[in-house]
Amino acid sequence: MAEVILKNIKKIYPFGDRKEKKELAGRTNLTVTEEGVLSVHDLNLTIKDKEFIVLVGPSGCGKSTTLNMIAGLEDITSGDLLIDGQRVNDVEPQDRDIAMVFQSYALYPHMSVYDNMSFALKLKHVPKEEIDRRVKEAAEILDISEYLNRKPKALSGGQRQRVAIGRAIVRNPKVFLMDEPLSNLDTKLRNQMRAEIIKLRHRINTTFVYVTHDQTEAMTLGDRIVIMKDGLAQQIGTPQELYGRPANLFVAGFIGVPQMNFFDADLIKEENGSWYVKLGDSRIDLPADRCERLAANNVSSQRITLGIRPEHIRVGEGNLSGTVDVSEMLGGAIHVHLKTLGSSAIVVVQTLDIEDPRKLFADGAEIRYEIMPRHIHLFGKDSGENLEFPPVR
Ligand SMILES: Nc1ncnc2c1ncn2[C@@H]1O[C@H](COP(=O)(O)OP(=O)(O)O)[C@@H](O)[C@H]1O
Ligand SMILES: [Mg+2]
Repeated sequence: MAEVILKNIKKIYPFGDRKEKKELAGRTNLTVTEEGVLSVHDLNLTIKDKEFIVLVGPSGCGKSTTLNMIAGLEDITSGDLLIDGQRVNDVEPQDRDIAMVFQSYALYPHMSVYDNMSFALKLKHVPKEEIDRRVKEAAEILDISEYLNRKPKALSGGQRQRVAIGRAIVRNPKVFLMDEPLSNLDTKLRNQMRAEIIKLRHRINTTFVYVTHDQTEAMTLGDRIVIMKDGLAQQIGTPQELYGRPANLFVAGFIGVPQMNFFDADLIKEENGSWYVKLGDSRIDLPADRCERLAANNVSSQRITLGIRPEHIRVGEGNLSGTVDVSEMLGGAIHVHLKTLGSSAIVVVQTLDIEDPRKLFADGAEIRYEIMPRHIHLFGKDSGENLEFPPVR
């Protein structure tokens, strides 16, 4: 158990040579400074004792770099890393009381499962009986007791991943770091292991920092999520906060499946202080609490990007209309792709009370729909920022 604090953590990877500097400067999503590639900008994060934090974002956004800095596998360019109040920037990885699980498992192929799991403890001269007790207990938790004498190559991918996790558990670390531990597993196994990690977390009761590019993993596992892009934390919050109040267009589009729909629209302030959105020919009046937030942020009438999740559109009636482009029948729900408002949108419709959803949403069908005012999101057209957030996050 431990509290981990990241204070203005920054990582710059120095250039290999002058040629590399020129090449990298040409890549638009990278911030290149005189010293090198800025991979993690000022990251501020307080991870509470026993909290499960997920770092999520697209490939190259700085997740592994952040995790490796916590582990001590990468130098911290500037800022402070505190574990239980102690600055550990210059403490060797093996002295940080941290265990890490990698995507590649990184097991020793010539050693049995038992030896793989006990190796780190032997190096620390933990007594034999104690090692035996810890290995067996971890094997029990992970349901791999019957494989302790096998070599890794005689195990399935899922079992190998369990061994890798077991090897970390036996060390009884203060902080548990995991870098995309499920990415090499097939979908079914991945879903199963995801549930296992939730159970594991409750049994071993320690602080977790978990890296993934998969928003579903982030949403299901995290107490809080740090969503990153181009080395910058875009928003830090609970899954519910990120889903319900995304700070900007990037977060809005990244969290949620299918993706949030976006439309060009106009946000208009009336004389009496109330607000509405003009979307196509329809007018959507905003609830009072939202008008208050807009007023508090000094927002003025403007062109916006309106966001609405596929599950917050009601079909059947309403003053908006669209044409079915294609429908995907999933059983309990059907995903209807509409051509509407000069753009496209996805609507999730529950099929429970619909007799023949395929027929109702056949290609080319005209559909009337409405969007739920309580669930719309308002983003600045140019800034992409959520207009209801305070200007400085
Ligand atoms: N050893 C390195 N040298 C130079 N640049 C690196 C190195 N490792 C990572 N980077 C760069 O830092 C950025 C973040 O990488 P990384 O943390 O691995 O991203 P993620 O884990 O989110 O996919 C990327 O632009 C990557 O190219
Ligand atoms: Mg990575």
